[in-house]
Amino acid sequence: MPITPNKPGPTKRGGLSRILTLTLVAFAGLLVAVGAGIWHSGGNAVPDIGGPFKLTAGDSKTVTDADFRGRFMLIYFGYTFCPDVCPTTLQEVSSALDRMGSKADRVQPIFITVDPKRDTPEVIGQYVKAFSPRLIGLTGTPAELAPVEKEFRVYAAPSPSTAKGADKDDYTVDHSSILYLIGPDGKSLAFFRADLPAEKLATELGRYVD
Ligand code: NI
Repeated sequence: MPITPNKPGPTKRGGLSRILTLTLVAFAGLLVAVGAGIWHSGGNAVPDIGGPFKLTAGDSKTVTDADFRGRFMLIYFGYTFCPDVCPTTLQEVSSALDRMGSKADRVQPIFITVDPKRDTPEVIGQYVKAFSPRLIGLTGTPAELAPVEKEFRVYAAPSPSTAKGADKDDYTVDHSSILYLIGPDGKSLAFFRADLPAEKLATELGRYVD
């Protein structure tokens, strides 16, 4: 898409459809890779995506993937200034877990920012609290986050029509929107489209969480 700095910003609908397209492309990419057998884990063809991370939580404590061994991680990448998709997704995730009863205690929902410039530990910590006391928000330096995004095949980039300067702080970030379920052993189990309604997401999670 050509960069046209003088063009007005995208309408909400335009932004949404672009995010949906990005998500579908990313999702299709994962499915193709699974189908092609590029990723394998045990007897089942599941996407061997994800990997180690060492990031910072809202209380400024360092958090690593190893902290959650023995539990499931439900990971979502986004950013706190996201106008629509991220808050909706986090709401559905919270609601899905609330529907799962005691099984939800086995699942740690984690929101990892793709916008570390604005999402300081304090900002992301306050943000996730508004959705659920279960939710952990993680941030880091760009150098810490880049390899994590790569491991999870995350697409994220400032929207060309809003990123008009490095010091401008009202940009939006286009990003893929996928929920990743990681098992108690730290291996990837499944991924879901983030626009699943809570009831359906709870059902899907229930297939994996014991
Ligand atoms: Ni978002």
